Amino acid sequence: MTMINFLKGHPTRTIIPVKEIANAYSKVLLDSDYLSYDSDPNNQHPLAYGTDPGNLDVRTTISNWVNDKYQIQSTSADLINLTAGASYGVANILASTTTPQLTKKAFVVTPTYFLINSVFVDAGLGDDLIAINETSSSEYDIDLEKLESELQKFGKTGVDTILKDPRGERKIYQFVMYLVPTFSNPGGMTYSLKTREKLLQLARKYDMLLISDDVYEFLNYASTTTIPPPISKINQIDQKTVSNKYGNSISNATFSKIIAPGLRVGWQESATPALVHQLSVTGANKSGGTPSQLSTLVVANLIESGKLDTIILNFKSVYAERAQVLKKSIKKYLPANTQVDGGDGGYFLWIKLPKEIDNHAVIEQLAQKGVVIPSGEGFEVLGSNNKQRWGDHCVRLSISYLTTEEIEQGVKIWGETIVELGNK
Ligand SMILES: Cc1ncc(COP(=O)(O)O)c(C=O)c1O
Repeated sequence: MTMINFLKGHPTRTIIPVKEIANAYSKVLLDSDYLSYDSDPNNQHPLAYGTDPGNLDVRTTISNWVNDKYQIQSTSADLINLTAGASYGVANILASTTTPQLTKKAFVVTPTYFLINSVFVDAGLGDDLIAINETSSSEYDIDLEKLESELQKFGKTGVDTILKDPRGERKIYQFVMYLVPTFSNPGGMTYSLKTREKLLQLARKYDMLLISDDVYEFLNYASTTTIPPPISKINQIDQKTVSNKYGNSISNATFSKIIAPGLRVGWQESATPALVHQLSVTGANKSGGTPSQLSTLVVANLIESGKLDTIILNFKSVYAERAQVLKKSIKKYLPANTQVDGGDGGYFLWIKLPKEIDNHAVIEQLAQKGVVIPSGEGFEVLGSNNKQRWGDHCVRLSISYLTTEEIEQGVKIWGETIVELGNK
């Protein structure tokens, strides 16, 4: 039986840059003895315990690369904390900046990156989740009216809670919000500058930390799309004009999508050194140092040799072609009023099918034929008040794993199945 799986959100094995990664490990491990690092408090040997935020040299390389990419010179090494990827990054942020007692609500954009729900549960915030809808056809890209009314309902203005322990001061936010503002997973949307700026204003007013999973920023493969800067960059620039010490945003970024997920390297960028320092001294970092010490030096090597930019170009050309084939196939094989969001960057397209189609039955029948189409049901924010019934009409499709032939074949079978089952 054909197996065509539109769920898998990782790259096809054949497009992962295995040789470049192997060469970079070899260079890092064999081409230098890093003797000067032995007496350097800011940098450690690749096989030693790392410093809390990660090697200063690596953070400097990443911050220069990021500034270069956005053509905005606002990032510096002291605004970066290295991580073991975006997933670990969110867990680290919640462990550091929230407590179930002091943090009132956690807002999560819906449809959401489904695996994030459990990270909030682990942090003790599972009962405090409130879904905020993406709104593709209004003034703002998410429902900021609802967000503001919930902030007013549950919060106070002028709150600034600082706890103290032997590691120093610890800022706890009254609210946190999780979002994927660029090529969102699963919604396929990119939020405007206006939405980002308004979010930051609300965050400042109500003592809220914006946690942006900025994981697809560099996979912009449609030359027509311009992406606004990450919220943390907007925050870095205007943080100078306000008196708040910690800022209100973190860009939680990763090399999983632009090198390989198995590397487990990411970086967190905030608007203030105070917040970055706080993120870097969570208990596990204090005990074991930065979580991916060796691999962070490999990433720095790939940046410095220029290889990373070539790797990204290759990913973008592969994904651009796959997204095109997917969009064309949807037009060719699915009902005419099928709505498609995304396909200009990142991994995911969000598809809304006409109401007459029994989405659940079609998906079930497709699974019998070996075609996996993930129902929108899986992209709900946890909690019974948060359900949007995404499963009734929506699905998420990934272009990171399937070849163009598999994509066309899968959509063809999908279209045939819709016809076979008829309307509700
Ligand atoms: C929005 C989002 N965040 C996080 C991740 C996981 O990233 P990492 O491998 O860096 O943990 C993904 C992967 O699909 C994602 O789409």
